[in-house]
Amino acid sequence: MRAVLKLGGSLLYDKDGKVVVDRVKNYASVIKALVSDGHSFVVVVGGGRPARTFIDAARSLGATEAQCDWLGIKLARNNAELLCAALGNQAYPTIVETLDELEVAINLGKVVLMGGLIPGQSTNAVAAVAAETVRAEILFNATNVDGVYDRDPKKPGAVKLDSVTIDQLRKILEGGGTKAGEYKLFDPVAIRVVERSKIPTIIFDGTNPENFLRAFRGEKVGSRIVHDDSK
Ligand code: UTP
Repeated sequence: MRAVLKLGGSLLYDKDGKVVVDRVKNYASVIKALVSDGHSFVVVVGGGRPARTFIDAARSLGATEAQCDWLGIKLARNNAELLCAALGNQAYPTIVETLDELEVAINLGKVVLMGGLIPGQSTNAVAAVAAETVRAEILFNATNVDGVYDRDPKKPGAVKLDSVTIDQLRKILEGGGTKAGEYKLFDPVAIRVVERSKIPTIIFDGTNPENFLRAFRGEKVGSRIVHDDSK
């Protein structure tokens, strides 16, 4: 199977800002095992805490939102370098920065790593467009929440949804920030791309890489974005 994994940048850092090296190693082991079973992956890594730190500082120094986005893009690529290191010769050796390069790299039998791509979106949009580009069968979104809730999960009575339609997701995420570093779960570009290509997508708690393996094997983990095939 060909799949895209989006690894939330928040999963790479602990509360003191240190890299959670063991988690990166464990993700690399799970990915290597799946590759040796014949599966193929693009892994898109998010910007996480370093992106937020640089974006906040740059904004307070007068940077434009596009400049802030570029910092997020580059810091996400730096984070992808960590997984690249852990994958060793199983990884395509450089972090892919364009979709043209992705089309070439995916055919070389290596795990392809990406960070950010262009301003005005988040790495979830990168993951969605990468999934379209390589005709991935599924998109896995490993994040720091255990799925999509029908309202802000901090609000009383919030219920986790096992499956969610794109329209529901759009409504739930409506009003979310669109400035650099502010995107929640799925940004508008990611939603549109997943919708137009009906990409099956699973959003799950990626704190434990074992959950990725479970989701990959088809176990019920997190929330699944479902598509209406009649549309
Ligand atoms: P993300 O917001 O996607 O990283 O990218 P994250 O925080 O790790 O993601 P989650 O929340 O865990 O899923 C960091 C920032 O980089 C810029 C945006 O400003 C984004 O908020 N970015 C990223 C872009 O401008 N373009 C891209 O293609 C990717």
